[in-house]
Amino acid sequence: MEPIAFKPEPHSVTQGNGRVIYNFDIEFSTNIDTATVESFGEEWTKFNHFSDQEIEAIASEHYFDIVKPEWIENKQVLDVGCGTGRWTKFVAKRALRVDAVDPSKAIEIASMLLFDCDNVRLSRASVDNLPFADSNFDFVFSLGVLHHIPDTQLAMQQCVNKLKPGGYFLVYLYYRFDNKGSWFKLIFYLSNYVRKVISGLREPVKNTLCDILAVIVYLPLIFTGWCFKKVGLKAVARQIPLHFYVGKTFNVIRNDARDRFGTPLEQRFTKDEIRRMMERSGLTDIIFSEQEPYWHAIGKKK
Ligand SMILES: C[S@@+](CC[C@H](N)C(=O)[O-])C[C@H]1O[C@@H](n2cnc3c(N)ncnc32)[C@H](O)[C@@H]1O
Repeated sequence: MEPIAFKPEPHSVTQGNGRVIYNFDIEFSTNIDTATVESFGEEWTKFNHFSDQEIEAIASEHYFDIVKPEWIENKQVLDVGCGTGRWTKFVAKRALRVDAVDPSKAIEIASMLLFDCDNVRLSRASVDNLPFADSNFDFVFSLGVLHHIPDTQLAMQQCVNKLKPGGYFLVYLYYRFDNKGSWFKLIFYLSNYVRKVISGLREPVKNTLCDILAVIVYLPLIFTGWCFKKVGLKAVARQIPLHFYVGKTFNVIRNDARDRFGTPLEQRFTKDEIRRMMERSGLTDIIFSEQEPYWHAIGKKK
């Protein structure tokens, strides 16, 4: 089976660090926050080492837990907002072909991480100018991306448009703490003010402050969660913010602190809001994972 044809054709082709990158016009994109895209370019230039073991463990346990193998095996897949391409790599091992798209300079990092994945094609493009005709892909996924885009509903629709009827769309959007108590919500509201300040700063100050937060906020909370888990109090551990990171490497923790506090545009949604967005985009048979990260869900195109 041939790769899916580009529509329109790329305006240029550049040599990345490992693979060719097809470039599409992003200056006419309207559903994009350029400060956020720039910030991700810087973030992924700093955090670009993910071992295969780390990728397999995190992807299979935390994002693809609700994906049946046959939905991606030997299929044509599109990854919207691929970043470093870590989840593209996970899927490329199973799929027939993967098109990975990102508007930031992270796409150059992805070309490095994916240098030996011959079934991957990389494009620099935005969700609102995905360079493919509609109804072409069997599986589309967008993990941790659409909440960084001004109109999340429109962006989701633009992803679903690229699916064939009967294809599946997997999405992860930041939750609005709708399944947590007031303690979590209070911490979030306070930390959101910190994010608004830090995300407006320049590098290297921004990165340094995020690293400091990883050490003085993340590590103590994660250690507390780890202690409760160790003595068998798993339910108590789950009440500790950031317990999700128990067992994760410090690289993942620093990366997520940078993601959490360094990104200018961030939106959050409840499970009901996400379900409604998915339904409005033309998805049915929607399944939400009850595992973290919240919320990730999958739906089938009608
Ligand atoms: C938190 S990162 C997630 C990257 C990757 N999916 C992952 O989980 O590792 C968000 C990504 O969305 C990309 N992004 C931001 N605006 C976008 C847009 N308008 N269209 C497509 N991707 C976008 C950013 O460049 C960034 O790489």
